[in-house]
Amino acid sequence: MKIILLGPPGAGKGTQAQFIIENLGIPQISTGDMFRAAVASGSSLGSKLKEIMDSGSLVPDEIVIEVVKERISQPDCSGGFLFDGFPRTIPQAEALDQADIVVDLVIEIKVPEAEILRRITGRRVHPGSGRVYHTHYNPPKQEGLDDVTGEPLQHRVDDTEKTVMERLDVYSRQTEPLVAFYKSRSSSRYIEIDGLGEVNQIQKNILDQLS
Ligand code: AP5
Ligand code: MG
Repeated sequence: MKIILLGPPGAGKGTQAQFIIENLGIPQISTGDMFRAAVASGSSLGSKLKEIMDSGSLVPDEIVIEVVKERISQPDCSGGFLFDGFPRTIPQAEALDQADIVVDLVIEIKVPEAEILRRITGRRVHPGSGRVYHTHYNPPKQEGLDDVTGEPLQHRVDDTEKTVMERLDVYSRQTEPLVAFYKSRSSSRYIEIDGLGEVNQIQKNILDQLS
């Protein structure tokens, strides 16, 4: 199955992606995680991306499309995949069409802006795996440490109030048009999930729709 997780920053895409991939046995393709790994590696692509991501703008479509095409050509993607944070513009969605990739399901997670700010300022991440926590809503078993590896958690550089406001604005201008783009298609199923509430309840609502 080929799935797109759509929703604003802080909607819970990364959080819910973990459950979906475990349930379906498909890989998660988070362009945000891939770009953060490129920045951490100090590669030339990484240094180009750092400034863009820290400001809350989008990485240029040509770069995103190339990175995603290379990733989905890997053997572990042959049985499907879950896109988390891709596509994010109409040209990125059109690139999937041009590559004859038919998306089976689009899951839109909806969360109001006031809640997003609370979530993002308390978020902590494990850079190695992309696992996501929240100091209050979804704390790790041991403060500041990843549940699986015990390694230290980090605060994302783009998780400041100022950058989040910019990312929300970018979302409404450049990504929200994808809602109409995918809702009008008969080839993909489109479901809307209320992203407010307990993480476990939202997980159940999503998994119920998958079965
Ligand atoms: P990316 O990493 O994709 O960031 P984003 O879309 O802004 O989304 P987030 O990761 O911030 O939020 P999320 O929905 O995953 O929420 P999470 O589960 O973590 O992209 C970063 C940057 O990379 C972009 O700004 C751009 O520059 C670039 N980029 C990436 N992809 C691109 C593309 N395709 N094109 C161009 N540029 C691209 O949850 C958030 C917090 O809330 C966590 O602390 C979590 O524990 C908590 N939480 C989750 N669910 C709940 C709940 N139900 N109740 C309470 N708290 C909850
Ligand atoms: Mg994420």
